[in-house]
Amino acid sequence: MRFAILISGRGSNMQALLEACAATDHPAKPVIVISNKADAAGLAIAESHGVPTKVISHRDYPSRQAFDDALHDAIIDSGAEVICLAGFMRLLEAEFVDRWRDRILNVHPSLLPAYRGLHTHQRVLEDGVRFSGCTVHFVRSEMDEGPIVFQACVPVRADDTEDALAARVLAWEHKLYPLALRLMAEGKLRVEGSRVLLDTPLRVQDGLMSPCPEIA
Ligand code: GAR
Repeated sequence: MRFAILISGRGSNMQALLEACAATDHPAKPVIVISNKADAAGLAIAESHGVPTKVISHRDYPSRQAFDDALHDAIIDSGAEVICLAGFMRLLEAEFVDRWRDRILNVHPSLLPAYRGLHTHQRVLEDGVRFSGCTVHFVRSEMDEGPIVFQACVPVRADDTEDALAARVLAWEHKLYPLALRLMAEGKLRVEGSRVLLDTPLRVQDGLMSPCPEIA
């Protein structure tokens, strides 16, 4: 399965995907990395993995639609069949998303549908919730919306800073996203309505508590 990765910045999730795909038996092949920002640090990482890169800046286009069309054309030219958004911070219009329906994955640093949008960790800390986490999901035209493939939750600690919480969540993003991509490439993900069915053995763990009192 040939796939494109869209980034806007650091590219650590992109890197996790590229490293996973470097395994010789991996069924997914990255064919292009596109950034909407010329100074995205992830571009150099992609090049070091030998993946072609392209900058398509939204600033060079008169409308969202024109930008989306340029993205679409570049992705088609690359031969990609699937798109992974990896810290891509532009909203894609409904027309683009519908053209690629059930073929765009995204990772978001919260337990969706809670905390869509930006500054998730700051808002989690302000609200005093006890768990946060991350979500890998199929993309729909509404922001951070769509059928959920995987979620991982992490405890929010009393002395957390945004950076500490972000790092704890990010470590799980780097595990979940490559796993979702692999299952997608193996044809083991099926979208049914608003849910994703996984054709793979699953182990589900019960009952977490945060914070957890000492129990004698
Ligand atoms: C990641 O935490 C990702 O979940 C988030 O941006 C960060 C990008 O980091 N994405 C979103 O907030 C999308 N709504 P990375 O460039 O190192 O992968």
